[in-house]
Amino acid sequence: MSVDLLLKNGIVIVDGRETTRSVAVKSGKVEGVYVPGSEPSAHETVPCDGFYVLPGAIDIHVHLRDLSQSDKEDYATGTMAAAAGGVTTVVDMPNSVPPVLTMGDLEDKIASAEEKRFVNIGFYAGIPKDPAEFDQAMVPHILGMKEYPHAPLVKGATSSPQRLCGCMKISHEHGLPLLFHPDSSKPDAIAEDMDTYFDLHSCDSEVKSIQQFLDAQEKVRGRLHVCHVSCATAIRLIGKHRAEESLTAETTPHHLLLSSNQFPNKDGTAKMLPPLRSSYDNRSLRLALRGQCAIDCVVSDHAPHTEKEKLAPFLKAASGIPGLETTVPLMLTEVFEGRLSWVDYLRCCCSAPAWVLQIRAKGVLTRHYDADIVVVEKRERVIRGADFYSKAKVTPFEGRRVSALPVMTIVGGKTVYSHGKFLVGQGTAGRVPVRAAR
Ligand code: NCD
Ligand code: ZN
Ligand code: ZN
Ligand code: ZN
Repeated sequence: MSVDLLLKNGIVIVDGRETTRSVAVKSGKVEGVYVPGSEPSAHETVPCDGFYVLPGAIDIHVHLRDLSQSDKEDYATGTMAAAAGGVTTVVDMPNSVPPVLTMGDLEDKIASAEEKRFVNIGFYAGIPKDPAEFDQAMVPHILGMKEYPHAPLVKGATSSPQRLCGCMKISHEHGLPLLFHPDSSKPDAIAEDMDTYFDLHSCDSEVKSIQQFLDAQEKVRGRLHVCHVSCATAIRLIGKHRAEESLTAETTPHHLLLSSNQFPNKDGTAKMLPPLRSSYDNRSLRLALRGQCAIDCVVSDHAPHTEKEKLAPFLKAASGIPGLETTVPLMLTEVFEGRLSWVDYLRCCCSAPAWVLQIRAKGVLTRHYDADIVVVEKRERVIRGADFYSKAKVTPFEGRRVSALPVMTIVGGKTVYSHGKFLVGQGTAGRVPVRAAR
């Protein structure tokens, strides 16, 4: 038997430890992980001595824009950013323009993504004003439903207990998780000054929103996934109710590693929702990610905007930062510097995201799983937004030192990216849409 590709003598994590192994790829799948000397023959062999061979990250929270917001990002630049960042699967949020509320909206996104993709892309859908009118045609093509209580996708969809129950009910009926942005501020609330802005989007507001969704879940059952958890108090509440089957949660590298007092907030460089919190919250999130397991995944919340929108004065600036090219390097730096274990990295960036969305055969580097692989070099460097493939180049991590660089990215057995170059054209690697194992 001859395999298609052999990543030879790389550093592979086996039982949580760095071990020298060769990874064989055949017909888009991992054929096996071999002790050196026992490998099958291969059509192509890539020596990986000294490089880490890891499962590609699965980022279940990105905004790839496209459609009428292609000035901010499109499926080509967004998935090039993913590939260069070591991310082999992304799941795209429905707050696009237009938002995803019908099969027609979703078809437009699928068609564009199909044509422009460099990695696997999955989708979420929003929920209409009357949740019972959810367009069921979308169900086979989406991985979850998403609710934004503070910024509804449809005008007038207030986050009343009735609506939240309706959202839980419709997602439960279709066996999909309900993801939500925890923020209980009023959709029409306008912040006239900085204090009001941070009050509106406070930790109390985050916790209150989580409680409202938990109340709905108690009545209707179903699965909840809390997006971008940012506060110690929110972790405490999630920790009390947590269960893989019914309540999962994610956080972001910026909420783990950055605090609000590091930024003067003159412009929107570090403006995102939820906002950056205190260093106490950073520490609580890092603890929750390590032993406590109150948080399942790390996501980028890649939310690109134009430079003009980001560099406007803080209150006027757009909210959201690019993250696809910084998440894996930042999290691997935590591993390389001894603050995160390999087991926790592989769980929060690869296997747990696949579990949360029930994505089949992804997120683990093992036989017969999809050959979505990233080769990483351990190397000191500095993050520069100007180097991003993303159209969004303003990052609060500008100038930050990291010690990991994804050098090669393989998607479904195809080498998409290698040492700063794209080896395939648009629309040739990756699956669109990624489906759930239902
Ligand atoms: C996101 C965006 O720009 O779409 N912005 C953000 O600040 N995170 C929306 C979101 O994730 O809530
Ligand atoms: Zn062959
Ligand atoms: Zn959000
Ligand atoms: Zn988001």
